[in-house]
Amino acid sequence: MIQRFLHARNFLACILAAATGMALYFRAPFPDTNLFLHVMAIRSASAFLFFKYSYTLFLYTTPYIVYSVLLSGIYIFALKTTRKVRAGKLPLYPGPAQRANLSLVVGELHHQCKQIPSETPHWLVIPERGLFTGIAIVGAVGSGKTAACMYPFAEQILAYKATDKDRRIGGLILEVKGDFCEKVREILKRHDRLQAIRAAMQECRRNLPNLVERLMQQIEVRSAMAGLNPDKMIAASGGRARHDAGLLRLMARGLEEAKDEEKLAVAAAMWNEFRIQAVREGWFAENGVEAAAMSHHTSTIVPMLSATPAARWRIDSTEVSCQR
Ligand SMILES: Nc1ncnc2c1ncn2[C@@H]1O[C@H](COP(=O)(O)OP(=O)(O)O)[C@@H](O)[C@H]1O
Ligand SMILES: [Mg+2]
Repeated sequence: MIQRFLHARNFLACILAAATGMALYFRAPFPDTNLFLHVMAIRSASAFLFFKYSYTLFLYTTPYIVYSVLLSGIYIFALKTTRKVRAGKLPLYPGPAQRANLSLVVGELHHQCKQIPSETPHWLVIPERGLFTGIAIVGAVGSGKTAACMYPFAEQILAYKATDKDRRIGGLILEVKGDFCEKVREILKRHDRLQAIRAAMQECRRNLPNLVERLMQQIEVRSAMAGLNPDKMIAASGGRARHDAGLLRLMARGLEEAKDEEKLAVAAAMWNEFRIQAVREGWFAENGVEAAAMSHHTSTIVPMLSATPAARWRIDSTEVSCQR
């Protein structure tokens, strides 16, 4: 509250000066009756008027200067040192694949002269023209030059118009160690996969709209198995798949394919989840043959697991009763 007043200190000084000036105007008016001033008025009316109006003006300006100095003093010495500025919210991050023009977001833009966060920060963006010059990243070994700059910068550049064969960015990488090339290859592969998802969804929406939901579920499961970033996958497929018994079945099947002990344990739990959800959705009856077959299938997975505590815990915690 006080800070807000002090931010508008000039306005506040004006109001206080107006009030003080008004009070002084009535309490200490211009002494017209003074003998010397009277003589002056007779001898030179303009000089008299000059003094009279100057006097009235000073009744306002002098308090203004005093208040202004006082409030500025409070602002500088009393409050500014303890003032805490809370960093404002950044605008939505412009996704590299959605950018209309080539640009590189290298960080956040706060106060340029003060070491405090801004209440209205922006993204620090290098536009296309700036990208034709070199960029130097300076820091000690292990300070994150590669992890925090090279990889995300390469990702942004390569994601730009990645689906447009004529406009996407090509380049030549020369490096000594070779691991950056590997990383770039992985980035490109990921964007190819995302592009394939986009194309498949587009095609399905156009020609087989009743299968869109099932395709989305397939994509969600396969992407999770391939370790694709879920947010990017959701953006590419245009939404989240419906989480129903069908999705649980796909996930359980996928996990079972992995032949990895941890994943098999989760698959067993997932089959159980599927059985419960499928009964809830009316796929089959709780005590029916199908439910029994499901329990039997789950029980065939369990012997494949060595009884590691982690695997046991996962199964117990999801109430898989397949040892019966
Ligand atoms: N800000 C950070 N937070 C967590 N880990 C970091 C950070 N910066 C770097 N690292 C990790 O430190 C290691 C070295 O970073 P790297 O980018 O290779 O450094 P540089 O290229 O500057 O030598 C990497 O394993 C990286 O993941
Ligand atoms: Mg490095």
